[in-house]
Amino acid sequence: MCGIIGYIGDQDSVPILVNGLTRLEYRGYDSAGIAYLSENDTNQLNIIKTKGKVSELAKKIKKKDKGTIGIGHTRWATHGSPNDQNAHPHSSHDEIAIVHNGIIENFQILKKNLLKQGYIFESETDTEVIVHLIHKNLNGNLLSAVRKTLKQLHGSFALAIISQSDPHSMIVTAVGSPLVIGRGEGEFFIASDISAIINYTKEIYYLNDGDLIAINRDGISLEDHSGKKVTPEFQKKEFVLDALDKGEYPDFMLKEIYEQANTVRATLEGGDIQIADGLIKFHELTSIERRLQKVERIIISACGTSWHAGLIGEYLIEEFCNISVEVEYASEFRYRSPIIDDRSIMIVISQSGETADTIAALREAKLKGATVLAICNVRGSTIDREADATIYLNAGIEIGVASTKAFTSQVMALSAFALHLGRMRFLSVDRGKEILQHLTSLPSIVKKTLKKTEGIIRPIASRFQNTLNFLYLGRGYNFPVALEGALKLKEISYIHAEGYPAAEMKHGPIALIDENMPVVFIAIKDQIYEKVISNIEEVKARKGIIIAIATEGDQQIEKLADYTIFVPKVVDFLSPIINVIPLQLLAYHIAILRGCNVDQPRNLAKAVTVE
Ligand code: AGP
Repeated sequence: MCGIIGYIGDQDSVPILVNGLTRLEYRGYDSAGIAYLSENDTNQLNIIKTKGKVSELAKKIKKKDKGTIGIGHTRWATHGSPNDQNAHPHSSHDEIAIVHNGIIENFQILKKNLLKQGYIFESETDTEVIVHLIHKNLNGNLLSAVRKTLKQLHGSFALAIISQSDPHSMIVTAVGSPLVIGRGEGEFFIASDISAIINYTKEIYYLNDGDLIAINRDGISLEDHSGKKVTPEFQKKEFVLDALDKGEYPDFMLKEIYEQANTVRATLEGGDIQIADGLIKFHELTSIERRLQKVERIIISACGTSWHAGLIGEYLIEEFCNISVEVEYASEFRYRSPIIDDRSIMIVISQSGETADTIAALREAKLKGATVLAICNVRGSTIDREADATIYLNAGIEIGVASTKAFTSQVMALSAFALHLGRMRFLSVDRGKEILQHLTSLPSIVKKTLKKTEGIIRPIASRFQNTLNFLYLGRGYNFPVALEGALKLKEISYIHAEGYPAAEMKHGPIALIDENMPVVFIAIKDQIYEKVISNIEEVKARKGIIIAIATEGDQQIEKLADYTIFVPKVVDFLSPIINVIPLQLLAYHIAILRGCNVDQPRNLAKAVTVE
């Protein structure tokens, strides 16, 4: 995914562009650039761009003149390696500049035709094709040229275009990629998400797919996907800015790990908790209540960490609602011939609400008549807008690319949803009250876990900081936690790690065990504790190194494990929220000791908005 920013008004655009890009860097950070038109008789187009982070770009900007219209971009490479040439903005004949988030699937054939017509390409990107097409289609009116060009593009794109030949307007459009417009006094801002412009304006318009908008200082003209002129509805947005500051933490990831006691509470309190009736009601679900009543099958679809949360959701819904559930990688679901109909409900889980594969799975399910419920952290995101109903995480913006607070909030949201649906089906008032009691007491146990574990984890992280491979093993509700712990380690420390169901070891992976292989076991006192103990014995017999996440007071495990991290006892179905915390901290501290950038790990982006 990439970040787009733009400004048109009376202020100098460049500082606004650079500040906005800094706020958007979590979307992609392998290169960055800006373009602006000088306030002179030639309206000269100036482009400054570079490989590396926005801080590198800022060093390169030596401008003296003022430019009140400009666009900017921070990139996560899809076509073409991260370097100066492939950085955005791209231009055509030094008169039109463009920034793009998304992927043009038919760019090769378009590029071939443009090359035949004499166009010279400076980059390997698909984006450069768009700006040359606009140049080719330009007949004095930038908006018409863009409109004509869009008809030739297949794929997803959020675009912002400025041109020397039309120095008082900016053209923006989006299909399958997010873009918002902020309105100020005689000025407009555009961005991939509101965090980049919320300092300047609270009036926000979220583009719909196919919107084509010409913005100038006096106003905007909007035509929708059918070409009809429509008036954009700006919404007033209040936005808590402290999420965008690290506070006393060294990085966003640690801050967000420590926010989890509050964020799981915020997720739960997003529902209407009715203690006396032992239930929690999400009013966002009112519109699909009848479909929920009749549902026969639930498909959960997501990617990455959100998919791990979905696996836990499967266990929760089966246990509380007695409904058949299957969990699908969104990237796989969208290309299968899924058996899905109007008696199915698809739950899509996405922190960002912009993951391309998950959006595609949502659209596929809707096409086949399913009702789609989203569990999402970003209001106004594509998934939020296209789902039939959304349960919000209310976890605040998650800046760290490695998802932490979103994961625990997703599991909390799924637990609360399972209670909501369960009470609509077979759960009694008393059982509902019991579950609700566990849910409402969890935030304080999260806080206690954070307090107890970090000190224990630091020396363990130091011991294993140079290890080449890890195994993470868990069972039942904690098998997905093993997967999540392994993913955290992989994505921020670049150490290879695999998560497995603990019992699966004997079917092959146990061949990997020797005195150099640390194996993290989630071995809490749950229903299958004895089985996990047997698995630990199997690994120990082959000299594997045992790191155990264990329940406070469990003396048996201390005799078996080389390292033991105790966590408070909670009911099985909520144990993933507690057990993932030491795994997040273990990955974090190992990555820090290895000098890795935990907030912006290499090769990654916060949301993958391309296939
Ligand atoms: C998790 O740490 C990763 N950043 C990644 O797996 C992420 O969970 C995945 O890309 C899905 O993102 P989403 O929740 O925003 O859809």
